Amino acid sequence: MAKQILVTGGTGFIGSHTVVELQQAGFDVVIVDSLINSKEETVDNIEKITKIRPKFECFDLADREKVHAFFKKYTSIEAIIHFAALKAVGESVHKPLEYYRNNLNALMNLLECMKEYNVKNFVFSSSCTVYGQPDKLPVTETTPRKPAESPYGNTKAVAEDIMRDFTVANADADMKCLALRYFNPIGAHPSALIGESPVGVPNNLVPYITQTAAGIREQLSIFGDDYNTPDGTPIRDYINVVDLAKAHVVAINRLIEKKNKANYEFFNIGTGNGYSVMELVKAFEASTGVKLNYKVVGRRAGDIEKIWADTTYANNELGWKAETPIGETLLSAWNWEKRVRGIK
Ligand code: NAD
Ligand code: WQD
Repeated sequence: MAKQILVTGGTGFIGSHTVVELQQAGFDVVIVDSLINSKEETVDNIEKITKIRPKFECFDLADREKVHAFFKKYTSIEAIIHFAALKAVGESVHKPLEYYRNNLNALMNLLECMKEYNVKNFVFSSSCTVYGQPDKLPVTETTPRKPAESPYGNTKAVAEDIMRDFTVANADADMKCLALRYFNPIGAHPSALIGESPVGVPNNLVPYITQTAAGIREQLSIFGDDYNTPDGTPIRDYINVVDLAKAHVVAINRLIEKKNKANYEFFNIGTGNGYSVMELVKAFEASTGVKLNYKVVGRRAGDIEKIWADTTYANNELGWKAETPIGETLLSAWNWEKRVRGIK
């Protein structure tokens, strides 16, 4: 029988792509999502891609009673992938309690239920935000974490510590947690049926680029060209969301097959390549043939100058590698935007 995986946040951007990869790898998926930042029609679109409808339960994971009720109903969950979280960095500065309550209560409710209902495997969405501006690049897993610059970032650092302590306390019961520290996930499924749907004005670069190309935003503002980088614009490690989704399938198999080296592990999930904002804009224009209206403006508060991953450990230990060329990834983001906006 197919092994059953709970995917929290499974109607969201990264979660939906991971549900597709899990189903295509033969897993039976149950999604839990409160739809606070996603739409139920994503379930239909996942089904269109895979021809399999994932089970879907809509509730808030910060509600402890509801999480317990879920595990009483679903008694064969083999592993959990926990995507569900609020993720807007700027908003978290203004609503810290909302972020701590949502992100940390959901995590603790799930870990508590793992123990109570004997689910041994847990994969968590962490972020390169835990590194802040590293002193040395690229970033390896031994690079020290820096104090978080936002409540959102702090929920990831605290979540990592909670998982570490939880696995130590429950080592006898063989409870395992694995954190994937994503760099900058971008792009969309090649079918253009699922992708990233920011609410309101996008904060992230690629949705802003595709919305500008689609004529929804007048102009892309490039936040600063006076950084200490070759062209003066900040550098990030942009990873294709389908490649990222595949890393979760590998991580789940690692835990289920007990190939993990410790009960709490963490990995950098990036490409190992850094692109500047200007390079990304040029790559978008080259791969889509669309000319972008952009202007360099002042720096955005809180932005770091440059970060990219050393993926050696993830590549060797997980046997996983990001494969999609940047142009193909940017084209997938554009195809998704076009489908959503009805642009031919
Ligand atoms: P997303 O907002 O598209 O998906 C998150 C989903 O979780 C949404 O569908 C939302 O409705 C749901 N959710 C939030 N709180 C919930 C709750 N309490 N109960 C039930 N459902 C809830 O975000 P995403 O980009 O897919 O991110 C997924 C995860 O990856 C998050 O944990 C995020 O912090 C992390 N992450 C994202 C990025 C990025 O740039 N997108 C980078 C690093 C880490
Ligand atoms: C990338 C670059 C901007 C928009 C954020 C979170 C981080 C992680 C990923 C979750 C930066 C520039 C952007 C625009 C621009 N999320 N930019 N014009 O800041 O690396 O990371 O998302 O964990 O925690 O902080 O991503 O896409 O916002 O920005 O010039 O309109 O694009 O200045 O250099 P960032 P981003």
